[in-house]
Amino acid sequence: MTGEMERIAALDPAAEYASARAAIDAAVGRVLASGRYVGGPEVEGFEAEFAAFCGVAHAVAVSTGTDALRFALLAADLKAGAEVVTSPFTFIGTTEAIHQAGGRAVFADIVEDTFAMDPACVRSVLTPRTGALMPVHLYGHPADMTALDPLARDRRLAVVEDACQAHGASLGGKLTGGMGTAGCFSFYPTKNLGACGEGGMVTTDDPRIAARVRRLRDHGQSEKYLHAEEGYNGRLDAIQAAILRVKLRHLPAWNERRRALAALYADRLSRFEQRGLLRLPIERPGARHAWHLYAVRIPELPARGGGSGPMSRRDAVRERLATQGIETGIHYPIPLHRQPAYEGMRLGAGSFPEAERAAREVLTLPMHAHLEERQAERVAQALGVALEAA
Ligand SMILES: Cc1ncc(COP(=O)(O)O)c(C=O)c1O
Repeated sequence: MTGEMERIAALDPAAEYASARAAIDAAVGRVLASGRYVGGPEVEGFEAEFAAFCGVAHAVAVSTGTDALRFALLAADLKAGAEVVTSPFTFIGTTEAIHQAGGRAVFADIVEDTFAMDPACVRSVLTPRTGALMPVHLYGHPADMTALDPLARDRRLAVVEDACQAHGASLGGKLTGGMGTAGCFSFYPTKNLGACGEGGMVTTDDPRIAARVRRLRDHGQSEKYLHAEEGYNGRLDAIQAAILRVKLRHLPAWNERRRALAALYADRLSRFEQRGLLRLPIERPGARHAWHLYAVRIPELPARGGGSGPMSRRDAVRERLATQGIETGIHYPIPLHRQPAYEGMRLGAGSFPEAERAAREVLTLPMHAHLEERQAERVAQALGVALEAA
């Protein structure tokens, strides 16, 4: 195989495992030998270490990010039918959790630069039925909590952060997971902190929320075979906890590596941005991006009549990169309000113009802590050529 045709993956969990293999294998072996496979010291240790990492008093490990969001809403005492304001430009786990917790998702459009909820749009959809806000720190950039906080405080709304893509991001020095009533993380394998399977976490400073999530994840048990309520089977297994403890030690360095790659992309691609051929992701003042995904925008060019050709510029660029062995992603091609699952909401095209435009324009470039600099150079170079041609 020539160097030129080397395949460059968008994400690479196997490379991450390889980089910490001896420690991960030892941790897994330790759990297998212990006989404690669900809960136990590995899970408790991971909870304490993750709470310290986020700067919160409590962290409760659960089976997925979706469960974390659902349990956090239930623990915040969301009333049946209460409205939860969230972004239409996110993964469906966000709204699944809202509906499974008995709430009703209400969308607020996003801002152009960070892809997070626009506080002005949030304000415009608040009603007496609003029970909570669920900002999403999409791609790893923190949502505008400074503007959302007063909206929530004035109305005593719970704020449940969807931090599933934002391990280690911060705003004004405060880490995600410690900004709201509760923070929710996913440890899906491709995340900045990823398990070798599924996992999730709820973080909070509120001991009542922590206690309720602990109960909910464990069939509503307050003590063995005493069920204060019906709960769920939503626990984290000990093997995943042991693996995550190893990886958590590397997370600061891995996030730094993502930051360096983001800087490289920005440096090599800014001249194309100056010519209006693409838009680069930004980091707002005071924010620290976790660079879970590096999402550029590839807009239609006005001269081309707004995408009237057979293929959008974004899709043409993506296809060209694929022929070079460079894998890219589209997170997400269809905003939630246009998904068949939410047809019943009757939110037609044009309901959330920024979310819809983002869905047409975004392209995520290869980004992970084990991407080599020369690979990122090749991605930037090939993207430049593709942008010129599209
Ligand atoms: C923004 C967002 N919310 C929720 C989830 C759900 O997490 P999980 O897949 O662990 O259930 C994910 C991840 O997949 C996500 O990216």
